[in-house]
Amino acid sequence: MTTTDAIIVEPTQEQIATVTKSRRMLPNTTVMNGPCAYLATERRRLAALQYEHFEVTQLSATIGGEIQGLDLTGPLSDEVIAEVRKALHDYKVIFWRNQPLTTDQHVAFASRFGSLETHPFLPPNTNQPELVRFAKNVNTSGYENGWHHDVTWRAEPSMGAVLHAITVPAVGGDTLFADMYAAYDGLPDDIRERVNTMTAEHDFMSAFGRLLPKGERDEMRERYPLVEHPVAPRHEATGRRYLYVNRYFTSRILGVSEAESIELIEMLSRQADYPEYQCRYRWQNDSVAFWDNRAVQHYAASDYWPEKRVMERASVIGNRPSV
Ligand code: SIN
Repeated sequence: MTTTDAIIVEPTQEQIATVTKSRRMLPNTTVMNGPCAYLATERRRLAALQYEHFEVTQLSATIGGEIQGLDLTGPLSDEVIAEVRKALHDYKVIFWRNQPLTTDQHVAFASRFGSLETHPFLPPNTNQPELVRFAKNVNTSGYENGWHHDVTWRAEPSMGAVLHAITVPAVGGDTLFADMYAAYDGLPDDIRERVNTMTAEHDFMSAFGRLLPKGERDEMRERYPLVEHPVAPRHEATGRRYLYVNRYFTSRILGVSEAESIELIEMLSRQADYPEYQCRYRWQNDSVAFWDNRAVQHYAASDYWPEKRVMERASVIGNRPSV
């Protein structure tokens, strides 16, 4: 049989549910293995998508699309921007190669999707306060190598971020993205039902606050009080629920004991670890990523020290997550 003769099986929703239920816990753990059958519908939906203004190569089962046929350095019509937004919602994170953006062009492109935030803790690019600069070298190693959504400690966390690779190492420094819809869909039924009504507290303090002198820490606490977000909000554009818990910023799940909160945060955060939910991007200089900060968590692999890696990020202010 050649690949073109491959028979495409169309499972029913009932078959998907039956196979999904056949997943099992690995002995003496809370880790499930077995088929992630519930990914089939989304994987096939993405494979069938077509766009008017560009082409997209699907990178993984349900997450990641690389766009061809668009120049981000030049002016883009409202129709193109609307289609990029649609691709972002479909693929959760989208990528481009060979986009030598100036800082002005970077800010201009990201601003087409909403107002940009300035980050109170991370150093900006010297010309553009809206661009956070991640500059790593022999003296400054990467610390973004843990799964996280950006800025969930804000009342209105970012809807997405546009990351431009300026200098990347020859090997290493990939960024991984994990699909938080898939993470939610793959939870055991009883846990999924529980998290639907749960709320979590988010806090910048353990990630950023401990580096600040006491006076500044108190001032930042006043500016950024503890915030609460649903554990499984509904995405404003797709209507799908996604998991919105991460180890960097989720400080507590409300309404349960401290021990249960710790256990739940750990268990929910671990869902990002499934390779079936992930895509991994190998950067080149002038690659660009645009991720939906609700639908994905990301992880910047820190395996390139002492080499140089310089990236700049613009984050678009979003709405308050809700169910
Ligand atoms: C980030 O965590 O936003 C930075 C990602 C990266 O440098 O790949």
